[in-house]
Amino acid sequence: MTVDYATVLDHMVATAREAGALTLEHFQRFRDIEIGIKGPGDFVSDADRDSETLIRERLLGRYPWGLTGEEFAPVEGSDDDHRWLVDPIDGTTNFLFGQHYTITIALRRGNETICGLVYNPVADEMFTAMKGEGAYLNRVRQRVSASTDVALMCVGTGLPTPNLSLYPGAYQRLDEIRAPIGAVRVVGSAANSCAYVACGRLTGYYEETGFIDTAAGILLVQEAGGIVTDWWGRGPEVYEKTGTLIVANPATHAYLLERLRDVPPKDPA
Ligand code: IPD
Ligand code: CA
Ligand code: CA
Repeated sequence: MTVDYATVLDHMVATAREAGALTLEHFQRFRDIEIGIKGPGDFVSDADRDSETLIRERLLGRYPWGLTGEEFAPVEGSDDDHRWLVDPIDGTTNFLFGQHYTITIALRRGNETICGLVYNPVADEMFTAMKGEGAYLNRVRQRVSASTDVALMCVGTGLPTPNLSLYPGAYQRLDEIRAPIGAVRVVGSAANSCAYVACGRLTGYYEETGFIDTAAGILLVQEAGGIVTDWWGRGPEVYEKTGTLIVANPATHAYLLERLRDVPPKDPA
């Protein structure tokens, strides 16, 4: 089956814009949104479900491939090769507190991400990438930061709160990396954090998070000249399963690898 992936990416972009408009309607009245709790520190709202329902309808209406989303059970598709990965709101906590969030969609073929996007509807920032074709923000080519100066490194991560027991060592790790770098930021969306590395707003990002959150963002960073590994320097065969991820420019990647490798939990592999 021959697929025109440039056209597919155009449809992904149109779909994310539609989902963006839909979620913005909820977002504008964020103080009134009813918050559901999936688990400790894990929130959900009607906006997440409405957004995923819309994205499923649009994508599967044209391309009836398998789809794994965050809010509903996965669906199996008409071919064994292609699969959509969808996070209808990445950064739900940000969303519920009136802060920036993203919509992220990746298209996988076998073990590869062919194209992906991260869309921030609040800022109207559309990050897109296609394998071998570069990373773009609103159609402008992006590169990771070229900086090598440790004092100018700006590193993103995520911080667990009530669910800390699921992420042992999270604050020790933060303590380990914080000096002598210039800054640490919690962007609040794993997808957006990767996008920020791709365009140089962060020099690096590390977290233990789900692959649906980061599949598109990883492609963005790779296409922007960044390095992607797990905390022990290993490739996709490991980080896609464990979610322990470093995405960074080369200098920040080397710094984070050195700092993260010995903080518990020890390498689970
Ligand atoms: C979360 C966000 C957050 C990250 C968590 C993710 P959600 O996704 O990306 O920034 O720290 O690891 O689970 O729950 O908002 O879709
Ligand atoms: Ca997510
Ligand atoms: Ca989500």
